[in-house]
Amino acid sequence: MAEYALGQSEEALKRLIDQAAFVGPITERMLRAAGVGPGMRVLDIGCGAGDVTFQTAELVKANGHVLGVDMAGEPIRMAWQRAKAAGLANVTFREGTEADLDAEAPFDCIIGRYVLIYQPNPVDFVRRLAAQLRPGGTLALQEVDFTHPIAAIPPMAKLDRMLNEIVAIMARTAADVGSATRMAGIFAEAGLPAPSGFCERTIGMEGARTFFRWAASSYAVLQSRISPESDPVDVDRLVGEFLADVAAVHGCAHGPDQWCAWTIRA
Ligand SMILES: C[S@@+](CC[C@H](N)C(=O)[O-])C[C@H]1O[C@@H](n2cnc3c(N)ncnc32)[C@H](O)[C@@H]1O
Repeated sequence: MAEYALGQSEEALKRLIDQAAFVGPITERMLRAAGVGPGMRVLDIGCGAGDVTFQTAELVKANGHVLGVDMAGEPIRMAWQRAKAAGLANVTFREGTEADLDAEAPFDCIIGRYVLIYQPNPVDFVRRLAAQLRPGGTLALQEVDFTHPIAAIPPMAKLDRMLNEIVAIMARTAADVGSATRMAGIFAEAGLPAPSGFCERTIGMEGARTFFRWAASSYAVLQSRISPESDPVDVDRLVGEFLADVAAVHGCAHGPDQWCAWTIRA
């Protein structure tokens, strides 16, 4: 069973929504390249608070449907609330995993963002997902690569310390932190054809509040998970400090590489 390192606190779910604001465009490029379009029945595995589900719902239009599934109950409750508030009629959510989809399968497409790295056995996970696709259906995954450092340019002591800490905690807590870069091999072992893909890197330049909010809130959530007894991280204060540091040297910082891969089941 997967264990999700960042937990499901209200703060952790809010972080997912903040994160979606700046990685959403990358996800959209993957969904379009993978051919997600009107009328499709799509599964969003590990849907969290529903951001990828909502994005996909716009592409499949009113005659399509997206099912968001997450192994935890809290994000599903939040996703339902958000869907109702937005008046979305072509999405549903439920608690579950890739192992209990027989009643709803087959799907035209299965998507997942930031789920593979939390699987103790990524090949089995992909194999189980592939089994829920119709022949000719598409599997598309977006994952982050936390095997490489993320850094400030030029080096900035406080910012670099935090970025290094994020990578170190992810390396310790995600079940398979290198799975993003191994997706071609994982797909092959799971019996799928060779995927297409691309890789993009997020950067935060002067004034890039969403980037630095993502970094600081990720750090805050990870810290509160691994050291619950320590003082909470003041996210707003950190964001302000990083924005000032970056502006002072006209510098930037970069986040982890975002790997996107998709393939069509034979
Ligand atoms: C980093 S969050 C990503 C949420 C969402 N995809 C997004 O990008 O905003 C990972 C989510 O995957 C869920 N998860 C991990 N393994 C799962 C599995 N095998 N089946 C269903 N959900 C899973 C976790 O509970 C967590 O909510």
